[in-house]
Amino acid sequence: MVSELRIEQLKQMKYELTKLLLLYRCALDEIETKINILKQEFQALHDYSPIEHTKSRIKTPESILEKMIRKNLDLSFSTIKENIKDIAGLRITCSFIPDIYNVQEMLMKQNDLEVLEIKDYIESPKPNGYRSLHMLVNVPVFMSDSVEKVCVEIQIRTIAMDFWASLEHKIFYKYRQTVPEQLLKELKNAAESAHSLDLQMGDLHREINEIKHMQGE
Ligand code: GTP
Ligand code: MG
Repeated sequence: MVSELRIEQLKQMKYELTKLLLLYRCALDEIETKINILKQEFQALHDYSPIEHTKSRIKTPESILEKMIRKNLDLSFSTIKENIKDIAGLRITCSFIPDIYNVQEMLMKQNDLEVLEIKDYIESPKPNGYRSLHMLVNVPVFMSDSVEKVCVEIQIRTIAMDFWASLEHKIFYKYRQTVPEQLLKELKNAAESAHSLDLQMGDLHREINEIKHMQGE
């Protein structure tokens, strides 16, 4: 029979987990609101938004547990908060590469956000060809009796980078991490093609803007 003490412990754990996931959900809401404001401002005042769309997700408790075990961490809520930095994730898709850095800069200027880390996989792509800009930020979440700093992982990428990453992810899932050598090579080539397309579209965008500028629009 489960002792009363054990039931109490389980109840406490459930409370802690609910609170933890709630905090991450609220942190994501905060960042999504910020992005929405930027998007609306750009759309209203410049008739152009550098942000195509956003997608957020919270890691499932199963996935958090799997990562804790993989990283050989002890199972406590404080260890989760300190070590798993991607419980809350926001992906921002932009039209062009310069838009990515614009969005990064706009977020970095916001005083309530504390930037913890930036990984520029566009400047230095991963060996497999992966490109994206990653930011880890702490967001303050105002609860009834405290202010909690909550970490959110933001990935900013172009549509072409996103297209490649989603397919690569699916292929890895299908082959359960052991992708044939030939396929890896083709994936890397596809990443380079996606990058060329990004550069080409960027040039086109600049040319169109120059024409508009000359026409005084
Ligand atoms: P994790 O411990 O796996 O989170 O790695 P990390 O802390 O070194 O973070 P990193 O910034 O390298 O990657 C974090 C996230 O970026 C991953 O969870 C993926 O969503 C995405 N990512 C990184 N590398 C790749 C890749 O090669 N392919 C795809 N499709 N996504 C990637
Ligand atoms: Mg991760």
